[in-house]
Amino acid sequence: MTGRLLVVDPAAVDKILDTSPARVVDAVRTAYRLHDEAQTVVPHSTFLRFPDDTVNRIIGLPAYVGGQVRAAGMKWIASFPGNIAAGLPRASASIVLNSMETGRPTALLDGARVSAHRTAASAALAARVLTAGEPDGIALAGCGVINLEVLRYVRHLLPSVRDVTLYDSDPQRAAAFAARVPDGVTARVARGLDEALAAHRLVSFATNAGTPHTGLDACGPGTVVLHVSLRDLHPEALLAARNVVDDPDHVDRENTSVHLASRRVGHRDFLHATIGGLLNGRTALGPAEQPTVFSPFGLGALDIAVAEMVREEAERTGLGQSVPW
Ligand SMILES: NC(=O)c1ccc[n+]([C@@H]2O[C@H](COP(=O)([O-])OP(=O)(O)OC[C@H]3O[C@@H](n4cnc5c(N)ncnc54)[C@H](O)[C@@H]3O)[C@@H](O)[C@H]2O)c1
Repeated sequence: MTGRLLVVDPAAVDKILDTSPARVVDAVRTAYRLHDEAQTVVPHSTFLRFPDDTVNRIIGLPAYVGGQVRAAGMKWIASFPGNIAAGLPRASASIVLNSMETGRPTALLDGARVSAHRTAASAALAARVLTAGEPDGIALAGCGVINLEVLRYVRHLLPSVRDVTLYDSDPQRAAAFAARVPDGVTARVARGLDEALAAHRLVSFATNAGTPHTGLDACGPGTVVLHVSLRDLHPEALLAARNVVDDPDHVDRENTSVHLASRRVGHRDFLHATIGGLLNGRTALGPAEQPTVFSPFGLGALDIAVAEMVREEAERTGLGQSVPW
């Protein structure tokens, strides 16, 4: 035995994350700002796919976050969409944190909840930065785990949002989601995607669509679109929009709509800002008539920053199990 490993199970991770939305947002904001300052190391994520299987995948995201955070590790996240029919979540994940002194693993955490919270916090942060005034509602396309968390974090950062319009290609998923919205929110299920897109000036896509299926013609002027699922929008819609990304090199891969658009035109001039650049005040965007689309590839740096916050909190509060390692 040469050390100890802190194991933080899903219930303990949930307990910490559910009671600390402000700290999750802080961790995400810090990670974005450090990324903009080149104080992170985020190699391209590795997609493990399987022979004769275009559906299931496991993605490895190693990352280092510098500055005051100084944490390193890796998220290993599986997506098996068939799980939903079996009553299981589509995604499952583990995160390993490593010591910056010895490189040895120091913590093993449930990563699915960290991933959902960091994704939702990043979308809500972008909504906060990109929306003008106090939006009163949001349209959610895709009624799964991620958009439920997006709604919670949007409410945390934009409490004026009280109306939610839902659309899911599976009406039962929309109905089940409507029954789970947080207190103080009124939910309505739209009959079609365009009806949802037209309903509010803030929209979040978190579907599991693998190829683009919509444009943004139905959106009102100046709509902010959180394109969390990355592959819903036709490339033409992005080319006509104002685009904000987390990292141009990361998001221009793996057949995302950004990737399809950049391949179509042969350049990335249609990407106008990064979220880190906006948060650091290095770039600014004024009001616009066309939609503003936020496409976050999902940087491993966010997972490591949030996981490090969870590890610290688990140690402080005695949650988790320390095992010899
Ligand atoms: N960018 C990031 O950082 C990041 C991080 C985590 C997850 N994601 C992505 O978010 C998406 C949602 O994740 P989840 O865990 O909530 O998935 P989920 O499977 O729980 O829910 C997705 C929902 O989308 C619905 N759907 C599929 N096609 C649709 C369409 N064309 N229109 C409307 N609804 C449609 C499905 O019926 C399902 O209810 C996934 O694509 C995932 O890869 C992105």
